[in-house]
Parts: sequence; structure tokens; C-alpha cells
Amino acid sequence: MRRTILSVSLCALLTLALFLSYPYTATTGHEETTKAAPKEEVPYDRPVEEIKKYLAPMNKFRIFQVQEVSSCLECHDKDWEANPQRRELGEPHDETPGKFINHDSENRWCLDCHSAKNRDKLRLINGKLVDFKEYYRLCEQCHKKIYREWKMGVHGKTTGYWNGVKEYMHCAQCHDSHDPPFKSVKPEPPPIKPVDLRKILTEMQSNSAAEK
Ligand code: HEC
Ligand code: HEC
Ligand code: HEC
Ligand code: HEC
Repeated sequence: MRRTILSVSLCALLTLALFLSYPYTATTGHEETTKAAPKEEVPYDRPVEEIKKYLAPMNKFRIFQVQEVSSCLECHDKDWEANPQRRELGEPHDETPGKFINHDSENRWCLDCHSAKNRDKLRLINGKLVDFKEYYRLCEQCHKKIYREWKMGVHGKTTGYWNGVKEYMHCAQCHDSHDPPFKSVKPEPPPIKPVDLRKILTEMQSNSAAEK
């Protein structure tokens, strides 16, 4: 009898000890993981404000040119009832943007990026709205590392002079948000060799001399 009481109370004591120690180990465990991920992991980052003045002008929206409008709201006005149903879109979006593919498209659709209430705005995951010209804040949410590299001029392309005006090309100028894998462009014709250039120049000179 005493033995049973003893083992029962021992059991209870052990359970209590375990219960009490649990949150303790949990917090120390957590603190250790924070320590294990040092801040130095990101040796470079800069606020996007620093490069804003160097950003290239954005391409004009194709749909604005084709439809001769200057805002999405000209069709998607306050009476527009957004239809969140995933579907093949008809005019005008059968052409622009066309399909939404190769961008985790099984799990997402238009209104995950475009605001349903204000079609002139993009929508972050937390519901915040941003202007089209700040589209890169959308990309930042999921492609943080590349976004940082882009701000540092490592990913993408900057043009201009080492001591003069720099220009950063936009993500959206190389990647279509609706089908983002980079498509290689048609190769340019080979550069003109100096020898050929001289030939062309002398031909041009003799032609203009003949005209006189
Ligand atoms: C010329 C009119 C017109 C313009 C301009 C226009 N849209 Fe649309 N949009 C439509 C029509 C019509 C549909 C419905 C098509 C269908 O259901 O097949 C639609 C549907 C959509 C949808 C699908 C969700 C919904 O509400 O049905 C999205 C997203 C969308 N438009 C975004 C845009 C964005 C972003 C712009 C501006 C960059 C824009 N549209 C400009 C006419 C327009
Ligand atoms: C991953 C986010 C994302 C999704 C999903 C998405 N868009 Fe977009 N869309 C953008 C961004 C960013 C821009 C503006 C930058 C650019 O030019 O790509 C844009 C631009 C547009 C434009 C203007 C393009 C032009 O050149 O005229 C239209 C229209 C549009 N989206 C409609 C849609 C429709 C319709 C869908 C669903 C079939 C859709 N978008 C899905 C991010 C998205
Ligand atoms: C909500 C998360 C999310 C957002 C926002 C997002 N992406 Fe993506 N992106 C993904 C995922 C997931 C993939 C991988 C898709 C796949 O492999 O099918 C991807 C793929 C890509 C790729 C293709 C990589 C390859 O395979 O070559 C590019 C380029 C890209 N995204 C650019 C962008 C740009 C530019 C924006 C901003 C306009 C953006 N993404 C916004 C999640 C996102
Ligand atoms: C000057 C053109 C250019 C610009 C600007 C640009 N990219 Fe890229 N991006 C590329 C090329 C080229 C690749 C490599 C494609 C390949 O290897 O097939 C690439 C690859 C990617 C990938 C796939 C990376 C991987 O590891 O597979 C993602 C995601 C991406 N870019 C997102 C972005 C985002 C987000 C921005 C803007 C912050 C951006 N890119 C700006 C040209 C560009």
C-alpha cells in the first residue's frame, strides 16, 4: 500500500517537474535559435528610397494604349463588381495581360496582387495597397534576396556612367509579372567590324560626293 502511494506521488512529482520545466526549456530553446541566426547574415541592404531617383521610367501600360484610357478605373469604376472567380478572361484581358502562368499560378490569381476595390492599386499580402509605380514592394514580399541584390545593382541591370547618372531597370521590364521566367531576347546583329565600317564610310562619302 505504502509502495503504491509512494510510486503514485513520485509519478505526480515527476509530471509536475516536467510540466514546470517545459516552458523553461522552450524559452531557452527559442533564445538559442535567435542567437544562432546572427544579423551578419545580411551584409548588404539599403533603403529603396536611396535608389528611387535612379529608377528608369516605367513602361506605359499596353492596355492603356490599346483601350485609349489612362486608368483602370475608367472601366473598373465604383459600380464595378469584382468577380474573384478564377476563369479565362474575355476582352480586354484575353490580350492584356493574357494568361497568368508560371507564377505559382495554381495557388494564386489576379486579385491576390490587384486590389478588388481600387483597380489602380496593387495589393500586398497584408492587405495594404500600393501604387503601380511601387510594384517592387509586391515582389519584395516573396523574392527578398533578389530584391536586395537589385537595390545593390547586383541583380538586373544598371546603365549609365560610373561617375554620372545611373539608371536601374525595373523588375517588370525583364520579367512579366504574369509570366515571369526570363525570356531571352532575339540576338542583335553582330557588331560592325572597324574594317567594314571604314568601307561603309568611304562608300557613303563617295555617294554624297556623287550627289553634289
Ligand atoms: C476597357 C475596359 C477595361 C480596362 C481599361 C481594364 N479592365 Fe479589367 N476587366 C474588364 C472586363 C470587361 C473584365 C471582365 C472580363 C471577364 O469577366 O471575362 C475585367 C476583369 C478584370 C479582372 C478580373 C477580376 C474581375 O473583377 O472580374 C482584373 C483583375 C482586372 N480586370 C484588372 C484590371 C487592371 C489592373 C486594369 C488596369 C491596368 C484593368 N483591369 C483595366 C475591363 C477592363
Ligand atoms: C503576382 C502578382 C500579379 C498577379 C497574380 C496578376 N498581376 Fe496584373 N500586374 C501585376 C503587376 C506588378 C503589374 C504592373 C507592373 C507590370 O507592368 O508588370 C500588373 C499589370 C497588369 C495590367 C496592366 C498591364 C499592361 O501592360 O497593360 C493588367 C491589365 C493586369 N495586370 C491584369 C491582371 C489580370 C487580369 C490578372 C489575372 C489573370 C493579373 N493581372 C494577375 C501583378 C500581378
Ligand atoms: C506571393 C509570393 C510572390 C510574389 C508577390 C511574387 N512572386 Fe515571383 N514567384 C513566386 C513563386 C512561388 C515562384 C515560383 C513559381 C514556379 O516555379 O512555378 C515565383 C517565380 C518567379 C520568377 C521565375 C523564376 C524562374 O523560375 O525563372 C520570377 C522572375 C519572379 N517570380 C518575379 C517576380 C516579380 C518581378 C514579382 C513582382 C511583380 C513577383 N515575382 C512577385 C512567388 C511570388
Ligand atoms: C535587366 C533585367 C532584369 C531585371 C531588371 C531583373 N531581373 Fe530577375 N532575372 C533576370 C535574368 C536574366 C535572370 C536569370 C534567368 C535565368 O537564369 O534563366 C533573372 C532571374 C530572376 C529570378 C529567378 C532566380 C532564380 O534563382 O532562379 C527571380 C525570382 C527574379 N529574377 C526576380 C526579379 C525581381 C524581383 C527583380 C526586381 C527587384 C528582378 N528580377 C529584376 C533579369 C532581370
